[in-house]
Amino acid sequence: MKVLIVYDSKTGNTEKMARAVAEGVSSENIDVDLIKVDEASVEVLPEYDGVILGSPVYYGQPSAKIKEFIDASVKFHGKLDGKVGGAFASSGGTHSGGETTVLALLEALLVHGMIVQGTSGRNHYGPVSAGAPDDSSKEACKHLGKRVAKLVKKLAS
Ligand SMILES: Cc1cc2nc3c(=O)[nH]c(=O)nc-3n(C[C@H](O)[C@H](O)[C@H](O)COP(=O)(O)O)c2cc1C
Repeated sequence: MKVLIVYDSKTGNTEKMARAVAEGVSSENIDVDLIKVDEASVEVLPEYDGVILGSPVYYGQPSAKIKEFIDASVKFHGKLDGKVGGAFASSGGTHSGGETTVLALLEALLVHGMIVQGTSGRNHYGPVSAGAPDDSSKEACKHLGKRVAKLVKKLAS
């Protein structure tokens, strides 16, 4: 069982979040690959049990590079059905597009037929950090990784 994290990051904030998400996945003894969108290929998507997308907030939306990756994933439309999904985002400020960005990423995963778990506590849709993630944001990222990994295991059993 393995999980893929694809993220975009120009100034490093989303990358720091991605590393914390990966830590959370690994803590559940699930293999995780962390790939920056520039080096990512949709070709590997079918190999994974879970896919987590991370993006900086650009005008309240995911970056163009992440959108390009999502659009290229149409090659495997119908083949990712039932896999686990998750998303996170880094913004410049608070209440400035973080949640809309996470939801846009989740919408794409849902269109693929993927399974997305919300959270009843904080970060209902997925973690958002304003600027560089502090300890609390990193904890939320780890929590996301853990939940995706746990759901992957649950679905496999
Ligand atoms: C083109 C562009 C558009 C942006 N739009 C927003 C925005 O709508 N809302 C916001 O909070 N931050 C916005 N930002 C700030 C980034 O989301 C923020 O700096 C983020 O932490 C960058 O992530 P990174 O370090 O992973 O590149 C924008 C930045 C750029 C370059």
